Amino acid sequence: MNEPASSGSVSAVAADAVFMDRALALAARGVALTSPNPMVGAVLVRDGLVVGEGFHTYDGVRHAEIVALEAAVKRPAEKHGGLVDRAFRHDIKSAIPSGVLTPEGACEAARGATLYINLEPCCHTGRTGPCTQALIAAGVSRVVAAMADPNPAVAGRGFKQLRAAGIEVSIGLREAEARRLAEAFAKWIVSRQPLVTLKSALTLDGQLVLPHPRLSRSHRGGRARPPLPRIALKDRWISSPESRSEVQRMRHASDALLTGIGTVLADDPLLTDRTGLPRRRKLLRVVMDSRLRLPLRSKLARSADKDLTVFTRAKEDSPKARALRRAGIEVVRVAGRGAKPDLRAVVEELGRREMLSVLLEAGATLNSAALSAGIVDKMRVFFAPKVAGFSGAGAASNGFQAARELHDLTMAQFGADFAVEGYLHDVYRTR
Ligand SMILES: NC(=O)c1ccc[n+]([C@@H]2O[C@H](COP(=O)([O-])OP(=O)(O)OC[C@H]3O[C@@H](n4cnc5c(N)ncnc54)[C@H](OP(=O)(O)O)[C@@H]3O)[C@@H](O)[C@H]2O)c1
Ligand SMILES: [Zn+2]
Repeated sequence: MNEPASSGSVSAVAADAVFMDRALALAARGVALTSPNPMVGAVLVRDGLVVGEGFHTYDGVRHAEIVALEAAVKRPAEKHGGLVDRAFRHDIKSAIPSGVLTPEGACEAARGATLYINLEPCCHTGRTGPCTQALIAAGVSRVVAAMADPNPAVAGRGFKQLRAAGIEVSIGLREAEARRLAEAFAKWIVSRQPLVTLKSALTLDGQLVLPHPRLSRSHRGGRARPPLPRIALKDRWISSPESRSEVQRMRHASDALLTGIGTVLADDPLLTDRTGLPRRRKLLRVVMDSRLRLPLRSKLARSADKDLTVFTRAKEDSPKARALRRAGIEVVRVAGRGAKPDLRAVVEELGRREMLSVLLEAGATLNSAALSAGIVDKMRVFFAPKVAGFSGAGAASNGFQAARELHDLTMAQFGADFAVEGYLHDVYRTR
């Protein structure tokens, strides 16, 4: 029986979606390996078959398109019905290191193929040559891209070049997913400032801190409190193990972690990425500490290995600053807002260091200050089905103290917890 006339196009659309999902999944494999570049995945398809695919890593230098073209060349000819001509394969290999494939090096596997990619191919020479030229030279006939490159140096010019060379270009498939994947890069490439995500775990009564058995009496005035719920006494964590694994994943996807000295003094945390997954640069641990109260015996200080920076108002040549430096901790004096380091200046400094994404994991004092300073782009709050049953160990543990409304909300469950994520700023609105 003949297929209905429309079925061809319907299945072509479905195939486009499948290959774009593959490109997005490949791109995500570059997490923690691409910054300060974007995560990009590419799939090269000919006659319905994947003939090459790849993703970018910063240390791998080559862009995803080139990795996919090279993979098409490397694939043994017999594996895909002799699509790759051996002579061409030799030529293309020698052409690839420059990042530009010459017409002579054009590869049979790529000729007439469709490239699926989550980000617009570049048209400028950076550490590699322009990918647009490589795709044109390789004879790719169609490019399906999820989104334009937010980099002002590209921003549509890559598509223009491809179209001028007669390549069919479609833009926008899975755009929302692609934009999410590229949001930190988009924020940084336009503003040179990192995307800041505030992460917090709260009880259902809005507390960031569970009462410690010793705090069952107010440490401020000695007013007796009602007996604390048993669960709160037994469990020092607010959030579930599943939430805490998710937070590890968030740390893995971040370039820097920002906290306040209040959290360090209260919890003595390590604040490392313990996923065990590879990352190109160590997670930079950053402490806001106006008066250099960071104890040299703290876990943070003892584990410092060129990955711990303290932003302060204290003099850089003070005895404590010198002691911290001797312990391998970087001490940076920044401009102040009153007695405290200016958070905007801190974020700008992190941006100068090519930090694309910062995870804010602090107590309510720094969280509130960050929200008030307008440096927070998105929030992810984990709500645990627990009731702290007290109004907090002082104002520091009591809410965020800055009214805001979030947009583009998503929710997810982690064990018994649910997490709400939303945005305060649209990083794509600047263009
Ligand atoms: N549930 C959660 O998700 C979560 C996460 C983290 C922490 N916590 C809890 O929060 C509690 C600590 O809260 P906290 O509010 O005391 O600590 P915090 O917010 O982590 O740190 C606050 C301190 O940071 C310093 N700071 C430096 N620059 C600042 C600036 N520009 N703006 C504001 N503060 C600045 C200030 O001390 P100096 O002026 O002396 O520098 C301030 O007291 C702990 O009990 C911890 O367990 C909960
Ligand atoms: Zn490129």
